[in-house]
Amino acid sequence: MHAQQNECRHFLALSDLNRDQAKALIARATELKRMHRSGQEHRPLARRTLAMIFEKASTRTRVSFEAGMVQLGGHAIFLSPRDTQLGRGEPIEDSARVISRMVDAVMIRTFEQATLERFAAHSQVPVINGLTDRLHPCQLLADMQTFAEHRGDIRGKRVAWIGDGNNMCHSFMEAAELFDFELRIACPEGYEPDAELLAAASDRCTILRDPREAASGAQLVATDVWASMGQEDEQARREAAFGPFQVTDSVMASSAKDALFMHCLPAHRGEEVAASVIDGPQSVVWDEAENRLHAQKALLELLMAPAQ
Ligand code: CP
Ligand code: NVA
Repeated sequence: MHAQQNECRHFLALSDLNRDQAKALIARATELKRMHRSGQEHRPLARRTLAMIFEKASTRTRVSFEAGMVQLGGHAIFLSPRDTQLGRGEPIEDSARVISRMVDAVMIRTFEQATLERFAAHSQVPVINGLTDRLHPCQLLADMQTFAEHRGDIRGKRVAWIGDGNNMCHSFMEAAELFDFELRIACPEGYEPDAELLAAASDRCTILRDPREAASGAQLVATDVWASMGQEDEQARREAAFGPFQVTDSVMASSAKDALFMHCLPAHRGEEVAASVIDGPQSVVWDEAENRLHAQKALLELLMAPAQ
């Protein structure tokens, strides 16, 4: 994981985990889910605090981290720029120095990956990426757990990403490397993923223009909104460009017979996905959402629990 000068471990990208850690984390997430459902108490983070900085809206990330900390015996503090000095221009480095002297880990949802990295560089405690414009690694932990629970090992399988080459697409590209699967990306021209990330992942990731071709033989089909947070002004232009990239029944029909459909949510039925797909039998979006809780509890344990 990201080792800083103070040696604490951060989770800023999926690539902060090695393959063994990733595999163990997913297995642990499923174990924590079983323990939680059976009512078994597990409080390794007693008296520990997670600060959660949200510079963008959230439902799943906030609720899963907050509930997860409580279930692990700890506590979470919600911080937004609206009511902290972050919103009044206190430097990110100073905020990191101060907040990390008081809590045991920090989760940040922000715009630029560089902001997250600057915070982490000045933090005494682990920092977790709760979404940036570039990456959404926590979502992929939940998605990989969900695939494993429904279909077993994703290694060697084909995954289709239909839509924007955005933060979710980038994290799927990192997941392709970490979990060893093939990723076919169908996106409109001009909406490709980052060229550098693509070059680094070129052995596993291919860009196509036809969603049906990308989905052909895929065991997992995934998509996301056409306009991410911060791109609201581009909605109309994006709707025009992405029209042919809706995940429809016909796209799902070209995938493998037992293919799963995933979406990180929130979703827009009738835009990136047809209602019949997201509400249909191949969709596992509610499991994905729930698994944010379990996968992040496994992550919090890994980063925060005292060594045994
Ligand atoms: N998928 C996801 O991160 O959802 P939120 O924006 O609601 O946190
Ligand atoms: N790509 C979306 C993901 C939301 C969870 C966004 O950044 O808004």
